[in-house]
Amino acid sequence: MSEQLPTLRWGIIATGLISSWFVQDLVLQRKDPKAKHIIQAVGSSSLDKGKVFVEKYIPGQCSNVYGSYEEVYANADVDIVYIGTPHAFHKKNCLDAINAGKHVLCEKAFTLNAKEAKEVFEAAKAKGVFVMEAMWTRFFPLTRKLLSLLHEEKAIGEIYRVFCDFALNQNISSLGPESRLKNPALGAGTLLDIGIYSLTWGLLGSDAGIGETASSLDVVARQTLDNGVDTATSAILLYPDGKQAIVTSSASFKTKSVFCTIQGSQGYVDIEGFTSAPQFFTVYSSDGSSKKYEFERPGRGFYWEADAVALDIAAGKVQSDIMPWAETIRVLEILDEIRKQGGSKFPQDSDGN
Ligand SMILES: NC(=O)c1ccc[n+]([C@@H]2O[C@H](COP(=O)([O-])OP(=O)(O)OC[C@H]3O[C@@H](n4cnc5c(N)ncnc54)[C@H](OP(=O)(O)O)[C@@H]3O)[C@@H](O)[C@H]2O)c1
Repeated sequence: MSEQLPTLRWGIIATGLISSWFVQDLVLQRKDPKAKHIIQAVGSSSLDKGKVFVEKYIPGQCSNVYGSYEEVYANADVDIVYIGTPHAFHKKNCLDAINAGKHVLCEKAFTLNAKEAKEVFEAAKAKGVFVMEAMWTRFFPLTRKLLSLLHEEKAIGEIYRVFCDFALNQNISSLGPESRLKNPALGAGTLLDIGIYSLTWGLLGSDAGIGETASSLDVVARQTLDNGVDTATSAILLYPDGKQAIVTSSASFKTKSVFCTIQGSQGYVDIEGFTSAPQFFTVYSSDGSSKKYEFERPGRGFYWEADAVALDIAAGKVQSDIMPWAETIRVLEILDEIRKQGGSKFPQDSDGN
């Protein structure tokens, strides 16, 4: 049975937190996988670190462990490179993998700004390889069901407003200057780390999250800055039809369970759980009835995006319909505008990002 599933051989770049979550989900035994995932290689800044990572998270499941990223790109048996470095390195890591002819799944935020993302997609286009931003939340069955209810079945009528927050108590002052959450050269700040999820829900709730451009939105934003790094961001996206999405992030406390509310002419939806990994949602209709939608989620839920990538690649596609290149660029253009108004800058930004 599993022989008939598309198979992807992954090369993992970096051995930090997100890579550990991703690889554990790749090898998770599941009831109904849509693809087969093999961890072909792991690359780290240090061979010892790489070995510890494999031993701890995927023991016996990867025999090619390298003390560099280059050796992963050079491994002829790697089909796709997963990039789990801090945002500031995504552009270089993506370009290196693409130049080696590899497909790429790169963590969010895809790059530091829209200009960098366009460069990566140009390179992917020239090489004919698949590239996608790993915005895993969009691939959850919960998210797909919600979008169908909101935008196809019009379960709450015309949508008027979306509120979404992602806040974590990150205790930034306790971190060292080289932390990716504190160092502007590593893309620090709540906006690219967690605010990107609030923005994602703002877009998904308002317009289904594809096919629109940043220029059709009026964006108003403010940021709280600590040494140039944003510790809180609030932004309003105003649509031409008057719809508003209010998206916020903070490093100072944890978002309450209902992290997103979507309001329409015939009711509202509350989404609960973790902003990046929702657990359930409830549709409250204006007639007083309500319905809760719950979904099974073994592990963390990274396999849904991984399966989708495998199916796309097997179908010969170079981009995803769920997270297409234009949507990654739209998200980054909005993030650029928020930072322009809010004041947070990265040393890698050129004038106007
Ligand atoms: N999808 C999600 O839910 C989610 C959650 C958390 C983070 N992320 C994203 O994943 C990326 C990494 O975040 P993380 O939390 O995994 O970070 P992390 O724990 O700090 O790990 C980052 C890894 O990148 C490598 N690296 C290369 N150069 C580095 C440098 N100068 N400083 C620090 N690390 C460097 C290191 O691995 P080696 O030493 O092995 O090379 C390091 O362990 C970010 O873009 C973040 O936004 C996504």
